[in-house]
Amino acid sequence: MIEVRTVAELRAQINSLKKTGKEIGFVPTMGALHEGHMSLIDAAKKLSDAVVVSIFVNPLQFGIDEDLDRYPRQEAKDLKMLKQAGVDIVYLPSVKEMYPEGFSILIQTQTYADILCAKTRPGHFDGVATIVTKLFNQVQPDRAFFGEKDYQQLCVIRSLVRDLDFTIKIFGVPIVREPDGLAMSSRNAYLSDRQRQLALSLYVTLNMLASKALQGRSPTYYLAREGRHLLGSKGFDKVDYLEFRDAETLEEVTNSIKRPTRLLVAAHIGSIRLIDNIEILP
Ligand code: PAF
Repeated sequence: MIEVRTVAELRAQINSLKKTGKEIGFVPTMGALHEGHMSLIDAAKKLSDAVVVSIFVNPLQFGIDEDLDRYPRQEAKDLKMLKQAGVDIVYLPSVKEMYPEGFSILIQTQTYADILCAKTRPGHFDGVATIVTKLFNQVQPDRAFFGEKDYQQLCVIRSLVRDLDFTIKIFGVPIVREPDGLAMSSRNAYLSDRQRQLALSLYVTLNMLASKALQGRSPTYYLAREGRHLLGSKGFDKVDYLEFRDAETLEEVTNSIKRPTRLLVAAHIGSIRLIDNIEILP
């Protein structure tokens, strides 16, 4: 596995892959790797000749009161996992390399700018869109792989690629869960045993609401409200949202499930913000 830390070093490696006609699969990450990331790498390996993984904790996508400083960092462990997984190139740029002095361009996302995570994390998706654009230009992949755990992010990336005419094919990879159902996340590292138990009730609640929605006993708008109250009563400190949304357009589904739908949630346990979502098919 080749480790590169600068754009120039990366370009040299990418050029030699391209010269030999290799198709590149790209997995962008912020490190603190877990099985969820490994499933993205597996998917990339199946569909590409060479796999590039980036590790970069992107300051531009964190709000001022968010967890940028304490975001888990474990470079040595990550590198070991990537090597074992058979990754070809790992790209670990510094903040200075990515945002040198004078950096002044920000991509503004508009389509999903006032719903779900964008509502409580203003600027987050602009930061994601900007770094992903830079990474796409640097890595020049044929395919890129994103987890469905960050479902709104996946939708933003799809529209980024469409609207800015990238020729990269985007793949969404299903959520990987712990045996008891908790969605894998780098932020799970913050949870105490008691908090982890509570976190698990997100998935349980989503499944309960999905089956009620499919039975059609009550409009999804009311089910969502019931779910938000339930999470509050179980001990979540704040529920940012729990909503049924069209899986493709992310428009709110307020009545019944007629098309592929996603039930999405974001909730806080103390200062820890967790997200999850499940697919509901009519
Ligand atoms: O999903 C993530 O880990 C990040 O948002 C991404 C896509 C690597 C951009 O920083």
